[in-house]
Amino acid sequence: MKQRVRIAPSILSSDFAQLGEEVRRIDAAGADYIHVDVMDGHFVPNITIGPGVVKALRPHTKKTFDVHLMISPVDPYIQDFSDSGADIISAHPEAGAHLHRTIQEIKRCGKKAGVVLNPATPPDVVDHLMGDLDLILVMSVNPGFGGQKFIKSQLDKLRILRAKIDSTGRPIDLEVDGGINFETAPLAIEAGADVLVAGTATFTGGPSQYAANIQRLRGSA
Ligand code: DX5
Ligand code: ZN
Repeated sequence: MKQRVRIAPSILSSDFAQLGEEVRRIDAAGADYIHVDVMDGHFVPNITIGPGVVKALRPHTKKTFDVHLMISPVDPYIQDFSDSGADIISAHPEAGAHLHRTIQEIKRCGKKAGVVLNPATPPDVVDHLMGDLDLILVMSVNPGFGGQKFIKSQLDKLRILRAKIDSTGRPIDLEVDGGINFETAPLAIEAGADVLVAGTATFTGGPSQYAANIQRLRGSA
């Protein structure tokens, strides 16, 4: 079932020199989830942060830590991200040979589990996992960097996944990540997304604009 629209600012676009303060600011500005992009320079061509930083940020907010793992291998690090305070942990099917096992490992750690679909990854990869999933994340850019252009072909994938989720009757989040702005947010919501990741669109204009940016994205519904 479709849930209310929630906004997940990606701290990838924040000022890394003051991450704790930035997390407190987006919390106060109305963020629903804090989206944490973890990149390893191997699965994606960029390197960001690891579990130590997630742990250091944990005391700065009570909001949901939505941890997007763009790392391979992924299974050996799930326990670490769980211990560091992640609430939702999401992995790409291409990150390992056994996606079902990866999801079971996230559940074993007592966390909510997500699958992330790259632009070329077909939606049916989730078909035999639906009973275990809490979130499906559709990448509307190729993962690795903020500030890229929204790939419109992913709207069809959102529609297909919305129908799959509704047929389960379970509250699985349908999240979209990449190139979300005031123009693309309404398209993604119309196609069935109920969680919007927003890096550039949240942090543009500096701290005085965070609340207005988040409100305007949410208002796109
Ligand atoms: C890309 C990341 C995204 C990214 C989104 O690999 O997964 O979360 O930060 O950035 P924007 O919203 O700027 O496209
Ligand atoms: Zn992300």
